[in-house]
Amino acid sequence: MTKFQNADYLKSQQYAGADKLAARIRLHERFSTNTVHVHRWEFDRILAALPVDAKVLEVGAGRGDLWVENKDRIPSGWHIALSDLSAGMLEDCKKHLGMELASRFSFEIMDVQSIPYSDASFDAVIANYMLYHVPDLPKAVAEIRRVLKPNGVLFAMTNGINHINELDTFMKRVRFIDSEGYGLMNVRDAFTTQNGAEKLRTQFDDVQLEMFDTALRVTELPPLMDYIASSLDDPDNRMQSPLALALWRELEQRIAEDGAIHITKETGLFTARCTTR
Ligand SMILES: C[S@@+](CC[C@H](N)C(=O)[O-])C[C@H]1O[C@@H](n2cnc3c(N)ncnc32)[C@H](O)[C@@H]1O
Repeated sequence: MTKFQNADYLKSQQYAGADKLAARIRLHERFSTNTVHVHRWEFDRILAALPVDAKVLEVGAGRGDLWVENKDRIPSGWHIALSDLSAGMLEDCKKHLGMELASRFSFEIMDVQSIPYSDASFDAVIANYMLYHVPDLPKAVAEIRRVLKPNGVLFAMTNGINHINELDTFMKRVRFIDSEGYGLMNVRDAFTTQNGAEKLRTQFDDVQLEMFDTALRVTELPPLMDYIASSLDDPDNRMQSPLALALWRELEQRIAEDGAIHITKETGLFTARCTTR
């Protein structure tokens, strides 16, 4: 198991609070080529699929960005529970939502591998960019299916194996990272856009994937370096090292030559339904 699927590491370091996640979200929000926010795009699809009086559970909700981005159009009849493995993340989620918006939700610390709700409780479960962290994915998918009502829907966004590939290449070129690679998609057998349908079909008989067309065109280095630092164990040392300087120069040269650093994004939404019980 890698650190990105180790609950202790995730709770105590990577997601102890929202700071590291925020650095990554900032880069995507500033430099994505698609001007529509991915959570607005996703919410169009969630709204179209659900009744006006739905019961909704979000697992691995992070800072609650889905709801912040769509606060103007959350149906008043929805009952929404936001949950996360990390208590610190959930506290930062409440802050990010602000008091008024937070009052619309209930909050629960929980591991998606063991959901503390009875069978058939929800019309929808949302699991965005979190199933790749789960060590026992079959257990998590079975739990999600268990708490969904008949005809309930799972919405799960995830990345593909080519996501931010160029970043890996730049970092390897200057030996900032070794051959193991950087980031979440190096988790072996993680939940990706390539293999997700197969993993969901063990519990859901109707699984669809829709890709979100976007990329990164980065024109400033500090937010990119913050993004890189956000996944490191010892960012203070690593980002002061000569290798970090070599990486900065490499990236600076890309901007000087090409006007921007072009980075592939590969991201999509799975919609999964169980039409039988
Ligand atoms: C990359 S963040 C995504 C946050 C949010 N869904 C979003 O799209 O912005 C992953 C989140 O999943 C949570 N997480 C990781 N493993 C989990 C698990 N086994 N059960 C529940 N949440 C988990 C982390 O604490 C973190 O907040």
